[in-house]
Amino acid sequence: MAQPLFGHPDGNVFYRKMSHRRPMISHGDGIYLYDMAGKRYIDGSGGPLVVNVGHGRGEIVAAMQKQAIDAAYVHAIMFTSEALEQYSYELAQVVPLPAPRFYFLTSGAEVVEGSLKLARQIQMARGENGRNLVICRSLSYHGMTLGALSVSGRPGMRTPYLGLLQNMPHIRHPYPYRFPATGEELASRLEESILAYGPENVSAFIAEPISGASLGAATPPDDYWPRIREICDHYGVLLISDDVLVGMGRTGKWWGLQHWNVQPDILVTSKGTAGGYFPLGFIAAKGSDVEQIRQTLGDFNHGGTFSHHAVGAAAGLATLRIMQRERLVENAAAMGAVLGFKLRQALAAHPHVGDIRGLGLFWAIEFVQDRDSKEPFPASRGLAWKIWQRAFDAGLVVYYSQGCADGHDGDLIMLGPPLIINEAQIEEMVGILVDAVHAELGQPALALA
Ligand SMILES: Cc1ncc(COP(=O)(O)O)c(C=O)c1O
Repeated sequence: MAQPLFGHPDGNVFYRKMSHRRPMISHGDGIYLYDMAGKRYIDGSGGPLVVNVGHGRGEIVAAMQKQAIDAAYVHAIMFTSEALEQYSYELAQVVPLPAPRFYFLTSGAEVVEGSLKLARQIQMARGENGRNLVICRSLSYHGMTLGALSVSGRPGMRTPYLGLLQNMPHIRHPYPYRFPATGEELASRLEESILAYGPENVSAFIAEPISGASLGAATPPDDYWPRIREICDHYGVLLISDDVLVGMGRTGKWWGLQHWNVQPDILVTSKGTAGGYFPLGFIAAKGSDVEQIRQTLGDFNHGGTFSHHAVGAAAGLATLRIMQRERLVENAAAMGAVLGFKLRQALAAHPHVGDIRGLGLFWAIEFVQDRDSKEPFPASRGLAWKIWQRAFDAGLVVYYSQGCADGHDGDLIMLGPPLIINEAQIEEMVGILVDAVHAELGQPALALA
């Protein structure tokens, strides 16, 4: 029998990145991962910003184990579990919606899909039967399933599947570095779109409060979200906040829109919800909207075999309690300021660093060929991937993305370490990243002085 090709592109697993050889991980501890050869990696992005409370949390594992032994699975149509009810009760204390209610699923794309349906059903319950359209933004990302991709704006991911997608109106994304505009100007695109399609046809507007993987922490002007809220209210359009990446404390507040004191109608989150210990996400809605669906339509017409999973709820509850006990949202804010300072100190003068931006413990560096013209490197240069590779070889995992400038070109390296990170660890992480940038793009004389 042939030897198994573990981690090899010719092995039995196929991945999204198909030609890449992967080390096998032996274990994790705090912000660190260790592979089978004993190499240590700083998990500087928690994968795609998942590992909020760090690796090796026995407390979460114990809670999951207890639930799995007690009852690993019960169908949500027929049963509930103490873990699920208690988790929802405690979540209600941190989700700023009036009398919030939660619907649990297992990934970001799933909660986005579910939120589109929930918005539709809220509109139907209000007697607004024509409201189907969901307005969304260009260069946004909401997931890979067809509904989520329909409201996403990343051409590279959408193009092969255009024939399968719903045609939803996309408006311009806030991106202060490349398109300076006031919040009023940007928000007016939403109003124009609502009027163009007819308010009676528009169900919701979905957006990331702070852009995630596509635009690397691009943060709108302060007047943007309050104005978006006003427009949605005026036209009866529901506001869906996609907090899948920036939620659960990542940006130094529990939820993205809290930076602007704006309340969405529906909030979705996933990634860090159970810290990576279980694939968990949830949709949060106002109690009054859910109640209206119940009174008018009877049921929420959606489902999923693994919805409301008891083991997932146990993992989510243990994660939530750790976050509160260890004050990790506060730590994200405090350590985020340190991280931003150190990144700027080390890289702001680099001739190929166009922008360094972030909030809390979510930071991005955008690379350019020329700082004055902001001309990006061509995608064929593969810059972000190469910096990623150099950092990886040196024992630092970061997150990379391409296409921020125009959907095709534009290189981003992103950091989103576990929210438990401390100052010394930030110092080490930034040091490795800076070395990787210098190795790929050169070390400017200024930085040597
Ligand atoms: C803002 C946002 N929404 C949705 C998703 C999709 O999440 P998932 O990959 O869990 O389906 C992502 C993933 O990166 C995301 O960043």
